[in-house]
Amino acid sequence: MSKIKHKIAVISGKGGVGKTLVAINLAMGLARNNRTNKVAILDADLTGPCVPKMLGLQGKKWVVDQTGYAL
Ligand SMILES: Nc1ncnc2c1ncn2[C@@H]1O[C@H](COP(=O)(O)OP(=O)(O)OP(=O)(O)O)[C@@H](O)[C@H]1O
Ligand SMILES: [Mg+2]
Repeated sequence: MSKIKHKIAVISGKGGVGKTLVAINLAMGLARNNRTNKVAILDADLTGPCVPKMLGLQGKKWVVDQTGYAL
């Protein structure tokens, strides 16, 4: 985490209010408008299917390079 320059947390005290949707739209917007830095997203609900489902990545394998970064 120390290597990550800027971190944005999307949190709420309630479930099902749109955290994942907001986080995905935020990440996509930042990635599109930023060619210099890499943008990543981590859902604290590690076993939840929401992020891959919303990004259309369900069923795909997680591929990382030699440094551990996701491709
Ligand atoms: N602004 C919105 N308008 C309509 N539907 C929305 C909106 N934001 C989220 N939803 C829908 O509400 C549902 C819950 O959204 P989401 O999964 O993003 O919430 P969450 O807070 O991350 O939930 P969880 O606490 O389970 O992780 C999803 O089906 C999503 O498509
Ligand atoms: Mg969620």
